[in-house]
Amino acid sequence: MTLVLRSCVLAGAVLCAWLVAAPEARAFEPFSPLPAAPPIPAENPQTPAKVALGRQLFFDPRLSVDGRVSCNSCHDLRRGGADGRKVSTGARGVATARNAPTLWNAAYQTAYFWDGRAASLEEAIAGHIVDPAIMGQPDAGAALASLGRLALYRKQFSAAFGGWRPVKYRHAVDALAAYVRTLVTPGGPFDRYLEGDASALSEAARRGHGLFVEKGCAACHFWVNLAGPVPGLAIPMGKGFYELFPTYRGSRYEAEYGLLGADMGRFHIDGRVEHQYLWRVPTLRNVELTAPYFHNGSVATLEEAVRVMAKTQFDLDVNEGEVSDIVAFLHALTGEFPPPESLTAP
Ligand code: HEC
Ligand code: HEC
Repeated sequence: MTLVLRSCVLAGAVLCAWLVAAPEARAFEPFSPLPAAPPIPAENPQTPAKVALGRQLFFDPRLSVDGRVSCNSCHDLRRGGADGRKVSTGARGVATARNAPTLWNAAYQTAYFWDGRAASLEEAIAGHIVDPAIMGQPDAGAALASLGRLALYRKQFSAAFGGWRPVKYRHAVDALAAYVRTLVTPGGPFDRYLEGDASALSEAARRGHGLFVEKGCAACHFWVNLAGPVPGLAIPMGKGFYELFPTYRGSRYEAEYGLLGADMGRFHIDGRVEHQYLWRVPTLRNVELTAPYFHNGSVATLEEAVRVMAKTQFDLDVNEGEVSDIVAFLHALTGEFPPPESLTAP
């Protein structure tokens, strides 16, 4: 309950009322299948031409300063949207400070990056292109100069945005964000189970589901993305849902996996001492595909990630049977992906 109440303070009033209500009085489930469509900002409506341009840009290494990395190099859509590396290598061989998160279902988050410093997908992508460890472009103009010389791109930007000289940074960013909003994976076993198909979960996954709620994982990993509130009623877009990691100090994992290292998460954004080691709660959808785990990519397996979470987030040692049941549940969070041949440049 302490955890639930603490999450409450962070999550806001509406959600709080639900979290503290007796289970039988709760108006809705702690989990939800993926809704038919993610929230779309009024300033950047989805259109087929924009999404096609976004897809083209996503797989194009010419967007990086040395022509070596595309978005897909680190967010490999055929590998669960991540790259399997502890940290990634960006343009000019510069290493990223953190592990690359998945982009699948990112549209359902309320803030972006491990520390939530970007309030929208547009903001995250705009910053990313000029980040020296990512695409490495010196500035917005440089990023678009080479693309603007290509007839194909002039045509595509024009189809998506019209107007005089449509090859603009803002447009590239909007198109990429629109494409990322199409990256959703509905129809996994747990979603089918929530929709009423009791046979969709194995016995082990069902026990794991029970443990996930009983032990308290669901106090932080709940709702559509198992990452807290989705943009809307309880939390407006941009606000983010954060928790301390580690919540309980003193475990051997701190030294083993560098959990109390120089990177202190949200503290670097707002300077508040109580925000040292505060991190955005990440999605657990498709998590079996995105090892290694945590912001520093320090944990290689899902089993170990579960042990680390249990110990650091509620000072609990889980036995091996419980770990394997919870992992079976986490596997049931893998959704259905579009055919691999669609996950390339059009
Ligand atoms: C060199 C590797 C690399 C490349 C290339 C790269 N990213 Fe990322 N991306 C990362 C890392 C690392 C993070 C997490 C950064 C952080 O939390 O500080 C991230 C985070 C993101 C996020 C936030 C996701 C979330 O849920 O918080 C989005 C959106 C994103 N990238 C989109 C893109 C797009 C679009 C491109 C192409 C323009 C791209 N990325 C290229 C490594 C990369
Ligand atoms: C107090 C809130 C809280 C609780 C309780 C909690 N988590 Fe987490 N979880 C987080 C946060 C925050 C992170 C991101 C940590 C970081 O910065 O690396 C995370 C990360 C994870 C990851 C790694 C995701 C990735 O992509 O790297 C897994 C797996 C996970 N949690 C599973 C669980 C399980 C299973 C439980 C129950 C045993 C649990 N969590 C309980 C807050 C929580």
